[in-house]
Formats: sequence, structure tokens, C-alpha cells
Amino acid sequence: MADQNGHSGKDGLLFNKIAGALLGSFLTIMVVREVGGALYHPESLETPAYAIEVPEGDAHDAVKVVEVDFSTLLASADSAKGARVAKKCAACHTFDKGGKNGTGPNLWGVVGRASASVSGFNYSSALKSLGESWSFDTLSSFLESPKGFVKGTAMSFAGLRKPQDRANLLAYLRTLADNPLPLPEAAQTVEGAMPEMTTPTEH
Ligand code: HEC
Repeated sequence: MADQNGHSGKDGLLFNKIAGALLGSFLTIMVVREVGGALYHPESLETPAYAIEVPEGDAHDAVKVVEVDFSTLLASADSAKGARVAKKCAACHTFDKGGKNGTGPNLWGVVGRASASVSGFNYSSALKSLGESWSFDTLSSFLESPKGFVKGTAMSFAGLRKPQDRANLLAYLRTLADNPLPLPEAAQTVEGAMPEMTTPTEH
């Protein structure tokens, strides 16, 4: 019995080894098939690769529409609301003609002004080397994220995330001038851009 037990024990072991080896190779085949399938699928299906380009075009259009939207926001912006937004700036900036520079430069006439051009204000070298004119566009980008637009600026202000707040504020800032710059026209392309946006999705 002991002999037989030992014998069958060895057989059992051998069986386990064979079963194990079979299972192992079976698993390996499964894994190889899965991985292989994942690798080869996109290559073998050329047509769906085209379809992927459509959402890309879509996203591009969406970005354009957002940009267009800002000038539309600006065209109907509320300068009285903008004056309220400007309170966030008053800790560092004055807005009146000939007002003193504070932590930041005086902002009278800033719309249309060359960047870093207030005399007597000690600008950071980052802002001095910007070399832009403060248009509605550049101001909007700067005010959305000062450090994003002028890396290294000394203006410690988180930014105005809401496009509506920036539009209202710019409508107000523009009035702080002897000859306010006209607001940009609401882009005519808004209506034109909409069908462009929907066309690719209907494919
Ligand atoms: C914590 C203080 C602080 C606050 C708050 C602040 N600014 Fe400034 N701002 C500065 C400083 C400092 C500079 C100069 C930055 C530099 O030299 O890099 C500056 C520069 C600017 C400039 C560039 C001016 C130029 O002559 O080139 C504009 C425009 C501006 N700020 C607008 C605003 C507006 C609008 C707000 C409110 C939404 C605001 N800032 C809030 C401190 C501030």
C-alpha cells in the first residue's frame, strides 16, 4: 500500500506537472492572442481610422466657436457689471486718469496701450519683454491667466476664468479713455460656424 501510495503520489505529481504545463501554454496562447489582437486590430481596420479624424475636426471647430463667442460676449457686455469685477483689481491698480501707480500700474487707457508702457512703474522683465499692444484679445488672455500668458509676470492674480466676467470687465476698461476704442464687432461667422460644427457629427 505504502509503495502504491508513493507510486500514485508520483503519478499525481507528474499529472500535475503536465496539467500545469498545458494550462501554462494555454494561458500563454490566450495572452498572445489578446495582445496580438489589440496590436493588429487598428492596423487591419483602415476605414475606422478615418472616422477618428472626424471628431478631431469637430474639436477644432468647437475651439473656433468658443473664440468667436468671446467677441459676441464682448459686443453685448455690461460695463456696469464690469466695474464691479474691477473691484478685484483695485487692491493693486488705480483706474482714474493720472492715478498713482500702486502694486500694479495705473490702468487708465489700458485698452489699446502698449504693454509695460506706464512711466515710473517698475515692470518685471517678463512683462517688459512681452512687446504687445493691449487689445481686447491680449487683455482677455492675460486676465484669464496672468502667469499663463506672461510667464514670470509680477502680477499675483489667479485670473478670471469666466469669459462673461472678462467681457464685462473689458467693456468697462475700454470706457477709461479719452477716446474709447470701439468694441470689436460680433463675429458674423457665428451663424456660419454652427452648420460647420454639426455637419461632421451627422456623418
Ligand atoms: C495683487 C495685485 C494685483 C491684482 C489684484 C491685479 N493686478 Fe494687474 N498688475 C499687477 C502688477 C504687479 C502688474 C505688473 C506686472 C509685471 O510687471 O509683470 C500688473 C499688470 C497689469 C497689466 C499690464 C499693464 C501694463 O501697463 O502693461 C494689466 C492690463 C493688469 N495688470 C490688469 C489687471 C486687472 C484688470 C486686474 C483685475 C481683474 C488686475 N490687474 C489685478 C498687480 C495686480
